Amino acid sequence: MRENALTFQLCASAVFFFLTMAVPGVGLLTRLNLCAQRRTRVQRPIVRLLSCPGTVAKDLRRDEQPSGSVETGFEDKIPKRRFSEMQNERREQAQRTVLIHCPEKISENKFLKYLSQFGPINNHFFYESLGLYAVVEFCQKESIGSLQNGTHTPRTAMEAAIPFRSRFFNLKLKNQTSERSRIRSSNQLPRSNKQLFELLCYTESIDDQLNTLLKEFQLTEENTKLRYLTCSLIEDIAAAYFPDCIIRPFGSSVNTFGKLGCDLDMFLDLDETRNLGAHKTSGNFLMEFQVKTVPSERIATQKILSVLGECLDHLGPGCVGVQKILNARCPLVRFSHQASGFQCDLTTNNRIALTSSELLYIYGALDSRVRALVFSIRCWARAHSLTSSIPGAWITNFSLTMMVIFFLQRRSPPILPTLDSLKTLADAEDKCIIEGNNCTFVRDLNRIKPSRNTETLELLLKEFFEYFGNFAFDKNSINIRQGSEQNKPDSSPLYIQNPFETSLNISKNVSQSQLQKFVDLARQSAWILQQEDRDRPSISSNRPWGLASLLLPSVNRKSFTKKKSNKFAIETVKNLLESLKGNGTENFTKTSGKRTISTQA
Ligand code: GTP
Ligand code: MG
Repeated sequence: MRENALTFQLCASAVFFFLTMAVPGVGLLTRLNLCAQRRTRVQRPIVRLLSCPGTVAKDLRRDEQPSGSVETGFEDKIPKRRFSEMQNERREQAQRTVLIHCPEKISENKFLKYLSQFGPINNHFFYESLGLYAVVEFCQKESIGSLQNGTHTPRTAMEAAIPFRSRFFNLKLKNQTSERSRIRSSNQLPRSNKQLFELLCYTESIDDQLNTLLKEFQLTEENTKLRYLTCSLIEDIAAAYFPDCIIRPFGSSVNTFGKLGCDLDMFLDLDETRNLGAHKTSGNFLMEFQVKTVPSERIATQKILSVLGECLDHLGPGCVGVQKILNARCPLVRFSHQASGFQCDLTTNNRIALTSSELLYIYGALDSRVRALVFSIRCWARAHSLTSSIPGAWITNFSLTMMVIFFLQRRSPPILPTLDSLKTLADAEDKCIIEGNNCTFVRDLNRIKPSRNTETLELLLKEFFEYFGNFAFDKNSINIRQGSEQNKPDSSPLYIQNPFETSLNISKNVSQSQLQKFVDLARQSAWILQQEDRDRPSISSNRPWGLASLLLPSVNRKSFTKKKSNKFAIETVKNLLESLKGNGTENFTKTSGKRTISTQA
């Protein structure tokens, strides 16, 4: 057949990415109908070739849901998966997956037909990030070997390629005149703030607004797959030194509180390397590896990360901007993975952070209101510059999440259980001590009783602001282990007890002025919601209301009368709508006096 004449050429991607040292990739935002209440969440691949029996249906079912669901009502009936099960399953999927940089316009059918000669494909998707990329999951790991065997290292006249057989490929068309159909790609970034405001203004209730925000911002199935794949690709590189290592994602990529565009925290787990063969010896002898020794665990961590940093910098396809931050409290290597667009932080010897991620995963799965509230509070904090991507005296997203969990533990009846009560539900298998810290808690979600609390998200949002607007931060600490206010052990302005290293404060960095800003904004937000209770605008008025008005900048809100405040809000949304017709840039700014207004959420 003529179609068979079309051949592709796969080149190891090393040279391509060493040559393109541009800024980390930014996915293209598809322009959408702004008035549409819902966007088509994920572009479905057109065809699935030679899908694996038994795995496709399972995968499709999961494809219908993002990495966390916002649906309510069914949570109690579906058995919930353990964090470790979810991690293992996704890791195994990622090991059967490849990343391919594709020509701008190719035929999806022909592309899949070409790839399926190496083995049956389970699923695939395309996305854009300074070019078109395909993520292709084979049914069997062995297919990757045969794809690699059919791939060559490119040669150029000007540059020398460092040969590296990875799972990251560059696809070229031999025949440039072949069919050029446009491929539909999945979004890897959330809607712009302007689009989000529109959506929120058209929503019918504050509960719907919070759920809408969650749906728009949460990691998609595709984005989650890409995160696991990126870890798996880095694991291949680290495996050159530590063949039994595992690179595990942690933090917001896996704890179900991640927003599209969040960083990718990775943990180099060397436990397998350390423990392998530990129980295999018999008889009177004990065999040990000859190893180098250093004075402390911290120095060992720094040495390992230093070597891996060099390796990523010199050999890692698509890894750019590698920084070794080895003197931090938790040493790390930071880099951009250009093809996925992720900012990556690689750490090791950081198992407690992985356990914190598991705990947050459990809290996020227990009640559908938890994630909706956390996402909205995180966005609210970002919109008012209470949080920042730059380290400093600000509150972090992790601290904010702890505050929401604590608040939900304080409701009557509680919406979330305390960490101590999760510990009492633990069985022998759950017992876990890390570096002398007791990290035991129940891992099986199905053993935790759902809450009888039926409060609405609207009420919880309002009460959250009231609760923390009036919290005695000068005297008390926040403590999710006991779920009760405790006397502060030191004079840090904000004291949030580390749930596992209980003598540490996770918000030690927060200054008095940042805390005061948080309190002032919480009070203002509670006040705005109270006012709206009395005078709720109609949907047709196009005025920002509810959550949307809380995400507006807080320019001199205190001195505003209600009338002035409404006038300001109307003007702001008018500007917003006008800017929509304008240049279509992602972030809008408007100068009001000397102050710059930004809706960056
Ligand atoms: P994003 O802002 O979306 O990246 O949230 P995140 O939860 O991923 O936060 P971050 O990337 O700053 O940190 C990653 C993980 O490290 C968190 O989820 C926690 O598990 C852990 N972590 C962060 N900060 C602290 C801290 O101050 N103390 C402790 N013990 N763990 C922390
Ligand atoms: Mg993170």
